Amino acid sequence: MKKRILTGITTTGTPHVGNYLGAIKPSLELADENSESFFFLADYHALIKTQDTKSIKSSVKDVALAWLSSGLDPNKSYFYKQSDIKEITELSWILTCITAKGLMNRAHAYKAAVADNKSDEDKGINMGLFSYPILMASDILIFNSTHVPVGSDQLQHLEMTRDIAQRFNHLYTKTFNIPEAIVHENNKIIPGIDGRKMSKSYKNIIPLLSDEKTLKKSVAKIVTNSLEPGEPKNPDGCTVFDLYSCFANEAQQSQFKKAYLDGISWGDAKNELFNVINEELLPIRETFIKLDEDKNLVNDLLDAGAEKVRPLAQEMLGELRELVGISKIE
Ligand code: TRP
Repeated sequence: MKKRILTGITTTGTPHVGNYLGAIKPSLELADENSESFFFLADYHALIKTQDTKSIKSSVKDVALAWLSSGLDPNKSYFYKQSDIKEITELSWILTCITAKGLMNRAHAYKAAVADNKSDEDKGINMGLFSYPILMASDILIFNSTHVPVGSDQLQHLEMTRDIAQRFNHLYTKTFNIPEAIVHENNKIIPGIDGRKMSKSYKNIIPLLSDEKTLKKSVAKIVTNSLEPGEPKNPDGCTVFDLYSCFANEAQQSQFKKAYLDGISWGDAKNELFNVINEELLPIRETFIKLDEDKNLVNDLLDAGAEKVRPLAQEMLGELRELVGISKIE
């Protein structure tokens, strides 16, 4: 059997450099002739985080264009929107009914939300957040994926997916493949402009599809210490350096390290950083501008993608319904 590579991006906010380095680029690089790839927009996951209708819609478009501009070829992969594949949400219910509540209690994202609360531990926590890992398991298992490229923050969700798949296989019959997480080899946390992990929830992103001026502004905002030009600087744990090393080759990195020790000014260091990022993003930005001219493109591609991939989901769900007893009586 061919490998089945699957990954999704939640459609909240503007696609950023962290999505690109952590999900889009490594996933596109994994695809080859011995694999089938499934890349999708997790719009039902977005509903967990926001009730802002407009922002979900615009994010679906932007994330789709981010994938396409970065080189996704819809003729060579399955490219679709989660909500168009109704079988995913149906599977989510079937899996909800075999998943122990205790397993969900242990999810980091849920635990972090509880820990942030003081007197009422349930404050602001919807059931979507609580059962989020089950929806994610459904995304993965509906297509019997074998490999799931994710950032290290998603590893626990993958473990849960494996647990849920095993439980189903044990209760009914071996149906699901047990998928493997693939964490990008130089598994760095991509820092945002404040040094924490780049994330829309921290509002510290560097946007992927912005113009040069905006990119330059984001880079200028990166927080540094107050060492003066001429004073030697430490590249370890420095956000500017960490981001630089996500884009630069070894030789460039060792040169940059030397410049740090020689006391490069923060202004010059940020210029160097801007240059390496811009060099990589320039062709992506140009493709984005071209693709964005065709206002129907994203809808058309996602409709075609849903049509192509949905029969696979329907077949799987048909089998599952039979197995659990939701089918015509005999
Ligand atoms: N939870 C993932 C994130 O926030 C997005 C996602 C949803 C996903 N479903 C998935 C990733 C299935 C991989 C596979 O990054």
